[in-house]
Amino acid sequence: MGQAHADGHVLIASNRGPVSFTRGDDGHLSAKRGGGGMVSGLSAIAEDAGMLWVCAALTDGDRAAARLAPDGVLDSADVGGGTAVRMLDIPPHIFHRAYNAVANSTLWFVHHMLYDTPNRPSFGPGFARDWEAFRTYNEMFAAALARAAEAGRPNGAAGDAVPVRAVIQDYHLCLAPQMLAERSPGTQIAHFSHTPWAPPDYYRMLPDDVGREVLAGILGADHAGFLCRRWADAFVDCCAAFLGATVDADGRQVSYRGHLTSIGVHPLGVDAGQLRDRASHRDVLTRRAALIDATEGRKLIVRVDRTELSKNIVRGLEAYRELLRTHPQWRGNVVHLAFAYPSRHDLPEYREYTAAVQRLARQIEDEFAEPGWNPLILEVNDDYPRSLAACRIADVMLVNPIRDGMNLVAKEGPILSDRGCALVLSTEAGAAAELSANALMVNPFDVSQTAEALHAALAMDDAERTRRSEALAAAAMSMPPRRWFADQLHALDHITVS
Ligand code: F6P
Repeated sequence: MGQAHADGHVLIASNRGPVSFTRGDDGHLSAKRGGGGMVSGLSAIAEDAGMLWVCAALTDGDRAAARLAPDGVLDSADVGGGTAVRMLDIPPHIFHRAYNAVANSTLWFVHHMLYDTPNRPSFGPGFARDWEAFRTYNEMFAAALARAAEAGRPNGAAGDAVPVRAVIQDYHLCLAPQMLAERSPGTQIAHFSHTPWAPPDYYRMLPDDVGREVLAGILGADHAGFLCRRWADAFVDCCAAFLGATVDADGRQVSYRGHLTSIGVHPLGVDAGQLRDRASHRDVLTRRAALIDATEGRKLIVRVDRTELSKNIVRGLEAYRELLRTHPQWRGNVVHLAFAYPSRHDLPEYREYTAAVQRLARQIEDEFAEPGWNPLILEVNDDYPRSLAACRIADVMLVNPIRDGMNLVAKEGPILSDRGCALVLSTEAGAAAELSANALMVNPFDVSQTAEALHAALAMDDAERTRRSEALAAAAMSMPPRRWFADQLHALDHITVS
């Protein structure tokens, strides 16, 4: 599967890129790996030559790096190995409105069904301005992709026998497929959604024209991919309900204004070899030893998330508190490691959410801590090796999102586990489609059920825990990123570009 790109030039586009730069006090720019599920999935395939990854410059360091690079293209040496990267220096006011106001405060909230509907959303004149910025941001990506497609096409001729394929990622870039199709008719286009898709009754909250523009934007692609059948079906239902698009009997193809888009389910999994190798590095081993020391061999419940509203960290902590109240035998015998690294702190909801998580953690400590036993270790800073170390020694992984496109932690935990872990998993995570047979499934809103599942997971005998963990790991490895990506390119091989 390593040669996914071999017979054509491949372009990737996403808001967040594989690296991010920071400028040190001496003015020197240093590169760090980008975060999140989409980036980790794509980074695993990014060493392949012949790819160009187009992303937004997110930090001042990124902007400086982009301006220094010839034509904005950082080659693989600039980004510490991997693919060539083109960072788009989008004007900050456009970027802010597109990323914060539309992508993360509107589309993310719709797809994850996060609105407190008596109060939000409320679409007024400010939103019209934000939406215009979102269009501009998508246009800038489409223009960069069209230019790269022309450059990558031998002889520069549209319709050349060697296809140029653009694989566009996520809700930030939902308008770009249609825009690129108009600018570059010879390019084969795939779009992939890393989020859930909202069902029509929730999606209709968007202003009518905006809702239609988003759907038509994605249908500009030749192939639209989703992480599980449930999200793909919701998208297709929205296309039928709001565009009047024609959907074939099994929801595998949507036809709109004479263009056919195939619909695919590509459940992103984990490259186990690469992950285990990273988790054997010295920085992870040091942290593993420190965590074992700090928790003195007690049972461990582990969670690792962005501090993200949809991850449901507050109800997870409530469930842990209920476990300690209703099953007192665990007091003194279990520690909850809750690692919630910072995310989207430009948005007030996220800052408030982090504060709510910290408040509840303090209450749990006040209620239960005893000399020699700290029931909870909450960390809200980013330490990737520490997260890997925690997954290695977990007895129980808690993954209870309100709604989640996939949730790779649910897959990474069993793969990393040294002695096998039990998985408490939300029915609303895309990963549930593959993992439910061997996980302990919970309704993420049902705190009492989650507390009982934590109890069952802690009490599970070793043989059953090992058996389930092995089965979970096997399922998690079944679609490694290379295959996931190759499948999307393969789907494009079966389309004819008009
Ligand atoms: O699809 C969701 C996603 O794009 C994931 O890749 C990642 O987990 C997250 O959102 C990253 O969000 P942000 O780039 O805003 O930090």
